[in-house]
Amino acid sequence: MPPDSLDFSVNDPNFYAGDPYPMYKRLRAESPVHWDAKEEAWCITKLNDVQWISRDPHLFRSRDGILINDKYREVPERESIISTDPPEHRQIRKLVHAAFTRKRMKALESRIREIASGLLDSIEADKPVEFVEQVSIPMPIMVIAHMMGVADDDLQRFRVWSDAVIDAADGQTPENMGPVFELMDYLRNLMETRKKEPGDDLVSKVLATTVDGESLEEAEIMVFCMTLLVAGNETTRTLMSNGLCLLAKNPDQMALLANHPSLIEKAVEEMLRFDPPIQSFVRTATEDVTVRGQEIKKDQRLILLYGAANHDEEEFGDTCEDFLVERPTGRHVTFGYGEHYCIGAMLARLEARVLLEEIFKRFGKFEFAGDVQRLPQTLVRSVGKLPLVFSEPR
Ligand code: HEM
Repeated sequence: MPPDSLDFSVNDPNFYAGDPYPMYKRLRAESPVHWDAKEEAWCITKLNDVQWISRDPHLFRSRDGILINDKYREVPERESIISTDPPEHRQIRKLVHAAFTRKRMKALESRIREIASGLLDSIEADKPVEFVEQVSIPMPIMVIAHMMGVADDDLQRFRVWSDAVIDAADGQTPENMGPVFELMDYLRNLMETRKKEPGDDLVSKVLATTVDGESLEEAEIMVFCMTLLVAGNETTRTLMSNGLCLLAKNPDQMALLANHPSLIEKAVEEMLRFDPPIQSFVRTATEDVTVRGQEIKKDQRLILLYGAANHDEEEFGDTCEDFLVERPTGRHVTFGYGEHYCIGAMLARLEARVLLEEIFKRFGKFEFAGDVQRLPQTLVRSVGKLPLVFSEPR
């Protein structure tokens, strides 16, 4: 079948709000390097290709933007770590790495458990809850607020600011820019305080880090903090919602977890693989190059479809379309690969694991208590509403 007959538009938000996986399967089989005429970009769906492209920032740059919709705007220079190329990217990455080491993540676990437990306290057995609003949204915000050293009294305002930053990343309006400016003032004050009285928080760590005699300027730290809110909140929220949705759809897999909590870590990997929160990021070819026999011209864009790559039968075999919590961990690309590999991957995994551990300590199972509502978005396969009802252990 010629590629044109694939009825698919990579920038259609409804495509992601529905079930994109059957189309991904066809693309892998029929047109693994697929030209989307409307977006004038190549859709990449095989795992090896996504990894190969992500690994080579010299041949495939991020500087022109990593979102499908970045085609429609001018991406400012050094807007964020994520759209920076080497050598600047390496330098920024080294400077912010100190805030996300394994040791720091380990030290966070008990606070994350308190946050999860506090949120789950509001859930009673046999009473329906809307899980997104009750747990998935507040949990990552509370965790990042704690990491940044935001005082408990400021948490409500922090949530409003954080939502505004995410909203503004999609398009700036007077409504979202007001709270964004408030957040910038707040961060400026926070940095002043931390310079005088350093603590164990992320802002103090980044302020104190130097690499080869260089450190980040305050404006750059501010941009980095904003990036964390955009990159870390909706993604982790979606991992939690998607993960619970998958368990509710697969009661046999949920029973395995309830009976064997030691499987939770593996189950989180399978949730990440099966339905990645971020469906794509983009690269631009820096010269003419061939991918899987297809010639790509200099300056053409390549859309890395992570959800498609994560179901690649060459890596995940005949069961690639099944959700199996005992699956041996394979090479999924939910956090990207290589140069820009997600800096918050350990944190997201930790939050999801702790949440599931706390859920199965209290409850034996949960079921849908109404329809799941997906939000039509091109970047994140986001869940808007997830009504669930939890039952006590037998
Ligand atoms: C399930 C949750 C998450 C998913 C699915 C996710 C996904 C990704 C992906 C795919 C990339 C690679 C970008 C590229 O190759 O162009 C990335 C990078 C990044 N992520 Fe995450 N992320 C998650 C959570 C987080 C969290 C919790 C944080 C921080 C609080 C974070 C911060 C970042 C940053 C700063 C980058 C840029 C790294 C760089 O450019 O070197 N992410 N993320």
